[in-house]
Amino acid sequence: MTTKTQSPDTKSTGKTNGHLIAVASGKGGVGKTWFSITLSHALAKEGKKVLLFDGDLGLANIDVQLGLMAKRDLNDVIEGTLSLEHVVERYEDGGFDIVAGRSGHGSLSSLPPDRLNNLLKQISNIVPKYDVVIIDLGAGIDRTVRFITAATDTTIVVTNDEPTSLTDAYALIKLSHAAGHSNNIKIVINVAEELKSGENTYNTLLKACKNFLKISPPLLGIIRQDKRVKEAIRAQTPYLTRSPNTETAQDIEKIAHTVSETIMV
Ligand SMILES: Nc1ncnc2c1ncn2[C@@H]1O[C@H](COP(=O)(O)OP(=O)(O)OP(=O)(O)O)[C@@H](O)[C@H]1O
Ligand SMILES: [Mg+2]
Repeated sequence: MTTKTQSPDTKSTGKTNGHLIAVASGKGGVGKTWFSITLSHALAKEGKKVLLFDGDLGLANIDVQLGLMAKRDLNDVIEGTLSLEHVVERYEDGGFDIVAGRSGHGSLSSLPPDRLNNLLKQISNIVPKYDVVIIDLGAGIDRTVRFITAATDTTIVVTNDEPTSLTDAYALIKLSHAAGHSNNIKIVINVAEELKSGENTYNTLLKACKNFLKISPPLLGIIRQDKRVKEAIRAQTPYLTRSPNTETAQDIEKIAHTVSETIMV
């Protein structure tokens, strides 16, 4: 994890060995949680030590998609009853660790800055124990989302081809750019009908970034749509376990491979 900002206050934590990735989108429902889980799984299958962190505290997505009953969760950390490392649980089916959220217990977005800073410090302390830590963020571009994305090595902005999704992804990039953190952003186009249309979607976003912000966030990957994604979520089974041989699985594995190469550097 690299410190790139004056605020949040991560100055004291310095550089670590692990790689911290935030998954954000602006618009909700574009597949952040499914992507975070499936990327974690793909990286674990590559032999990487992965921690997946539910940063969407109010809605606790990860445990729902995987059918987990977490005994401890992030709320315990925020309330100060447990330290972050004590709420990490092993998800054996995926071969990675998880910090669960808890539905209905407020939202990270309403956390006061000192609590958020404290949480971020605990995250940065845990990052060196892993090859990759992935934070699945909630929808929106609120203070918490901007605060966390500013402190990561990579922020993956997920979008699909819907105008509202593209507009919100652009708004997130614009705010990051205004705060001086846009150079950690990479783009994932999800639910693409085919690779070509995914490229077109990326080019639309890229054009806006180039024209108005004078930046060119790179494409990390395109993920094709597959109705089996919904089925896997419904069955609360990891997609790569249920449907390992699909084009969509290949798309995720390709992204995992690129991420692996990045973190080896
Ligand atoms: N590649 C894909 N192909 C088909 N359907 C997909 C794909 N990715 C995601 N979906 C669908 O999108 C829905 C929303 O996914 P998910 O809950 O992961 O989104 P999210 O961005 O985390 O939402 P929120 O902003 O509410 O947290 C899933 O239920 C799934 O059916
Ligand atoms: Mg989600």
